[in-house]
Amino acid sequence: MIPMLDLRKEFLDTEKEVIQSVVDILGSSRYVLGPHVEEFERQLAAYHGVSYAAGVGSGTGALFLSLACLSVGKGDEVITTPFTFFATIESIIYSGARPVFVDIDNNTLNIDVNKIEEKITKHTKAILPVHIFGLPCEMDRIVSLARHYNLDIVEDCAQSFGSSINGQLTGSFGAAGCFSFYPSKNLGCYGDGGAVTTNDQRMYQQILALRNHGSRGNYVHDCLGFNSRLDEIQAGILLIKLKRVEHQNQLRRQNARLYTSLLEGHLRCPHPPPGYVSNYHQYTIRSPKRDKIKHRLQQEDIASVVYYPIPMHLQKAADRYDYKEGDFPVAEQACNEVLSLPVYPGMSEEDIHRVCEVILGCL
Ligand SMILES: Cc1ncc(COP(=O)(O)O)c(C=O)c1O
Repeated sequence: MIPMLDLRKEFLDTEKEVIQSVVDILGSSRYVLGPHVEEFERQLAAYHGVSYAAGVGSGTGALFLSLACLSVGKGDEVITTPFTFFATIESIIYSGARPVFVDIDNNTLNIDVNKIEEKITKHTKAILPVHIFGLPCEMDRIVSLARHYNLDIVEDCAQSFGSSINGQLTGSFGAAGCFSFYPSKNLGCYGDGGAVTTNDQRMYQQILALRNHGSRGNYVHDCLGFNSRLDEIQAGILLIKLKRVEHQNQLRRQNARLYTSLLEGHLRCPHPPPGYVSNYHQYTIRSPKRDKIKHRLQQEDIASVVYYPIPMHLQKAADRYDYKEGDFPVAEQACNEVLSLPVYPGMSEEDIHRVCEVILGCL
């Protein structure tokens, strides 16, 4: 059996430290927000080279609160990709704004920056790029477009912890960087968690209030907020894992290099452009024989996942926007061809060879 992830091994590697931290926190009587959350926020901001980070309840919370801080709401449009996890557009829809999709680039699977400008209208409020599978979007061009048209940028970094462009980490380009610490993420906790990174003090202060019912915890409520807080146990675990995440990402990159060396020339492999460093949250191949490959892998007890089978514009939950099949052909074709393979840190070279052997046998 080759799984997609081996979270149990990761836990066992840090077991003593994690258990000690959980026991200490349980004995402290501080469970929601508190010193571990504050320390994690300090380290997260320093890691990203930004002024502030605020822990929140999930990646979805991070996106939703960021849009709320930027006063994105009814009548506004937010430009994003149709090739993402549903939470990206869910947060836009909940804000009251309309998600305006732009097709993806066939090589990177990220939003096609050549097609953004034609979608900007007087209603456009923000661009929400998603660094899908950990590969950064073309942020230099997105930043210049946003400056030119006076738009905000909210980065969806749920999958891109530790990914960078010419040394600059994702989450430090826009008004807000939105992270998820869901257990399967490159930096994951043992429950739900998220964070917003920002250089904007006003935005930071507002996130602190919005995550906690519009209050700074003193029963004075200046605005309506939400319950989207990071808890102490998760923050304690994240502090332990943050020390290891760079090494874990390096192991994923090594695995990705081996996959590419074995599969290149037989099917489409991910290729970060020069200067772009992926954290390989997913190692995603493309082939018209995707379903056959997936089936064969399954027969050999090897896990693989189709992220994502249906683009966002064709989801039933988005039918009120009247998008139809054919609107974003590159994303639609990607949905028919992509397959994510196990690439987790600690996966053996032998297992990678085995996965590739089965795949090559299908072609
Ligand atoms: C691209 C993307 N955006 C947003 C999210 C939402 O994060 P969470 O599950 O922490 O709410 C995810 C997580 O799965 C994601 O992959």
